[in-house]
Amino acid sequence: MNVLLLGGGGREHAIAWKLAQSPRLSKLTIAPGNPAMRDLGELVPDVSPLDLDAVVVLAERVAADLVVVGPEDPLAAGVTDHLLEAGFRVFGPTRAAAQLEASKSFANQLMAEAGIATSISESFDDPEAARAYAADAGHQVVIKADGLAAGKGVIVCDNLEEADAAIDRIMIEQAFGDAGTRIVVEERMFGRETSAHAFTDGVTVRHMPFSCDHKPVFDGNRGPNTGGMGVYSPPGWLDDDTAEHIRSDVTERAVAAMAAAGRSYAGVIYPGMMVTDSGPKVVEFNARFGDPETEALLPKLRTDLLEIVDAVADQRLADIEVEWDDVATVGVFMASSGYPNSYDTGKPISGLESVDPEVQVFVAGAREEGGRLVTGGGRVLCVVASGTSIEDARGLAYDNVARISFEGAHYRTDIGLTADQPLEVGAR
Ligand code: GLY
Repeated sequence: MNVLLLGGGGREHAIAWKLAQSPRLSKLTIAPGNPAMRDLGELVPDVSPLDLDAVVVLAERVAADLVVVGPEDPLAAGVTDHLLEAGFRVFGPTRAAAQLEASKSFANQLMAEAGIATSISESFDDPEAARAYAADAGHQVVIKADGLAAGKGVIVCDNLEEADAAIDRIMIEQAFGDAGTRIVVEERMFGRETSAHAFTDGVTVRHMPFSCDHKPVFDGNRGPNTGGMGVYSPPGWLDDDTAEHIRSDVTERAVAAMAAAGRSYAGVIYPGMMVTDSGPKVVEFNARFGDPETEALLPKLRTDLLEIVDAVADQRLADIEVEWDDVATVGVFMASSGYPNSYDTGKPISGLESVDPEVQVFVAGAREEGGRLVTGGGRVLCVVASGTSIEDARGLAYDNVARISFEGAHYRTDIGLTADQPLEVGAR
C-alpha cells in the first residue's frame, strides 16, 4: 500500500516510524516531513499540508492508497474533504467533524447536548460582555480563543485583572489572529490532567492507553506553557472506574453525538481531561493524535498501525482488535535555549549514534546543514524509552538524553516523576 503522511513534527516522526514497520507498506511519502524521517520514506518538503490543491496533486503523483493526516490545521481547513472529493481514502476527520477541536464553542454545545461533563462556560463575540461575565462569574476563569491557535490560545487567570488582560490580548490585540474573534470564558478547573486517545471510524471506538503531557517548561510545572516538554503512559494515579467513565461517558458518547449531529467522526479522537474532585471533566477535544502523547503511545502499539488506519478509512474498525504492550513509556523533550520564548536555531546535534537501539528519538524541530542535523525549532527532539515501570522507563530515557547534546539544550528532569503518586486534587 502506498501511504502519504501529512506533517513534519515529532508526532509524525512517530507515526512514520510505526507505519514503516508494516509488512503491508509498499511506499511511504511524507509532506513536508523532516530530515530525521529520511530513512522511513520519501520526503516532499515543499508541499505544505495546508495547500489543499498541492496535497491532491502529490497524492496523485505518488498514487496514494491512503492519506494519513497528522496535524489539526489541515483537518480544520478541510484537507480530508478535498482528498475524498478527489477519490482518495483518508485517515482523519472531515472539516465538519474536526470542528470538535477547531471551535471550542461548537465542542461546548455538543457536550451540553450530549451530557458530557466539562466546565461552565459562555462564548462571546463582544469583549465588554466577556468582561462583565468574568466579573460576575464568582470563580477563577480560563479565557480561550475559540479557534485554533497552535495550543497557545488558552490563558489561565488567577484573578479578574488577568482575565481582563487576557480578553484584551485575544480580542483587541488579536494575539492569535482570527482564532480570537470569538472567545470562550470558562470556569477554571483544578485537578490532574490526562489525555484519552482513541481510534474511531464513527461507529466503533478502540481506546488507547491513557497518557500525560507536561506542558510547563520547567520542573515542578513552573514557567510558561510549551507544546509539551515530556510525556508518560500510563498514569498510575488514574483509577479504573475513572478511566472507564472517561472511555464510555466522554469518548464514546462524543463519537455517538457527532454521528447523531450528522458529522460522522473518523480518525483519532482525543479528549484532554481534568480529573477533579467532582469527577473527570473535558478540558478540550482534539481531532488528531496528541504531541508528545503519540511519541509515548505508538512504541507500545502491538497491532499494525497501517491495519488500523486502513480499517478506519473503510469504516470496518469493528473487524480489528487493537492490542498494546503492557509496558510503561516515558518521553523527554530536549528544547532549544530560550524556548518557549525566542531561541536560536542551527546548533549541531550530536550523540544520536550512541543512543541505545531499543530507545526511540523522535525529531520535531531539526534541519540539515552541511550534511549534519542541526536544531531547527523550539522543541527539538523527544527521547522515548520503555520499561516494566515508569521508574525503569524514566531511568533509561534520561540515561539516553544525557548522551545527546546541542548548544543550549534544556529539558525537564521530572518527566513521569509523579506518575504513580496518588491523585491529589489541586495538584497537576
Ligand atoms: N498534548 C497537547 C496536544 O497535542 O494538543
